[in-house]
Amino acid sequence: MGVVSIGLPSALERMAKDMDILFDTWLKVPSDTRARLYEGMRHAAIGGGKRLRPMLVVAASEIFNVDHDSAMRAGFAVECIHVYSLIHDDLPCMDDDDLRRGKPTVHKAFDEATAVLAGDCLLALAFEILGDEATHNDPFVRAELMAALARASGPAGMAGGQMMDLVAEHQQLDLPAVTRLQQLKTGALIGFCLEAACIMGRVPHEHRMHLRGYARDLGLAFQIADDLLDVEGDEGATGKRVGKDARAGKATFVSLVGVDRARQQAQMLVDQAIDHLHSFGEEAEMLRAIARYSIERSN
Ligand code: IPE
Ligand code: IPE
Ligand code: MG
Ligand code: MG
Ligand code: MG
Repeated sequence: MGVVSIGLPSALERMAKDMDILFDTWLKVPSDTRARLYEGMRHAAIGGGKRLRPMLVVAASEIFNVDHDSAMRAGFAVECIHVYSLIHDDLPCMDDDDLRRGKPTVHKAFDEATAVLAGDCLLALAFEILGDEATHNDPFVRAELMAALARASGPAGMAGGQMMDLVAEHQQLDLPAVTRLQQLKTGALIGFCLEAACIMGRVPHEHRMHLRGYARDLGLAFQIADDLLDVEGDEGATGKRVGKDARAGKATFVSLVGVDRARQQAQMLVDQAIDHLHSFGEEAEMLRAIARYSIERSN
């Protein structure tokens, strides 16, 4: 049964279980001195997280009748990158956080070297998965997926945005600069999720415009919601410390325009994201639900 027919909460629940199984399968702990590294990866990757990025890949893939196993593997690859980005984001040299997904961060539960290496390994694993024939039988599709994920993760994507985010602790940024920062640090990976579905579905480039627009607005709304949760959220629900952005002097939408306007902006972006789906019918209902959920969530 496809995800469109079961509703978002059940689909997310199922995705959480499926992701846990995939991580468990790929990260069997060896009986040598690398065990600690695998334990570190498992600690970060299993049993937590909304799994929204794989959900996006699968929901968009269903629109184009992409094989479910291919979509799951591409979703798993992007979740690997995401978990790696969280492990490194929490390091003392970055956001210096001690709580993630309701558990101690990897460098707290283990040590910094393990956290750095666990992140490195998840980054590599993502490309190992995409490059495997089981992801897609067409090597050109696999190459396109890998190139797109590399772009979304590197200096022109997530990692570049993380750099901007850190520099912004010591600089006054205006709204266009914060928008650009957030488009890179969060938007790029979310953009990949939709792009991956288009690549696997062999959607012609001129027809990818609407989903790119959707991803851009969703990514921004999603990060504004994250910034709002840092101000108004609950540690129990979010599973991470709150109030950190203000203490670190981070430039966010919320720090620039305040809570009320940030919330309005996020709502406007969600409406806009949904408008981008106007050419699709029922088959895009899950993407619409994800857009609404991106700002209604409590974690
Ligand atoms: C948190 O991402 C970091 C951001 C990019 C905003 P998520 O809110 O998706 O975190 P998990 O995966 O649910 O833990
Ligand atoms: C992190 O953004 C985005 C990443 C690329 C990991 P944040 O620093 O705001 O994420 P949280 O709030 O720690 O989850
Ligand atoms: Mg950060
Ligand atoms: Mg952080
Ligand atoms: Mg945050």
